[in-house]
Amino acid sequence: MKNIVIIYSTTDGHTREICSRLQIIIEQDGHQVTLIPIEDASEVELNKFNKIVIGASIRYGKHSKMIYEFISNNQKILDEKPNAFFSVNVVARKPDKNRPETNPYLKKFLSQISWKPKELAVFAGKIDYQKYTIFDRLMIRMIMWITKGPTDPKANIEFTDWNQVNNFE
Ligand SMILES: Cc1cc2nc3c(=O)[nH]c(=O)nc-3n(C[C@H](O)[C@H](O)[C@H](O)COP(=O)(O)O)c2cc1C
Repeated sequence: MKNIVIIYSTTDGHTREICSRLQIIIEQDGHQVTLIPIEDASEVELNKFNKIVIGASIRYGKHSKMIYEFISNNQKILDEKPNAFFSVNVVARKPDKNRPETNPYLKKFLSQISWKPKELAVFAGKIDYQKYTIFDRLMIRMIMWITKGPTDPKANIEFTDWNQVNNFE
């Protein structure tokens, strides 16, 4: 039995949902999974885990600053253990941008850090306009209009391929 920690950064909860799904799938295989929001990650004793997974969503082109800080502060222990990183963004809804080698955010992120995750994934996220502030709704609708995505202000669309999530272990 492996003891796995998944540290995640989320704004609207979708990355947390992906982590919960991973927890169910991995625990079905007899392992133990602990989910930790990035805000609490500095309190965690990483040594007691066999594997460290980090997941983070994109907001205005970037992963949270806290993710960069956590990686920089813990690179030694990350390198010592099996580890993985996944990014959640809506650009990944596009078939030509849904893999680690083709997703612009993940590629840029990896070029900015010295940690080399041993496993990588990109999951398409979710758009739920009613949840956003007026400013965010306007901005995301504009980006969606440019990139030929949904612009209906009531749209609530999950682009996530859950089979892809189920297969990420
Ligand atoms: C304010 C805002 C900005 C976003 N910026 C981007 C972006 O620049 N590129 C992108 O691909 N997705 C972007 N997204 C989409 C999110 O990555 C997607 O909604 C994801 O599911 C959010 O996950 P979370 O709920 O865990 O934060 C943005 C979403 C919001 C609400």
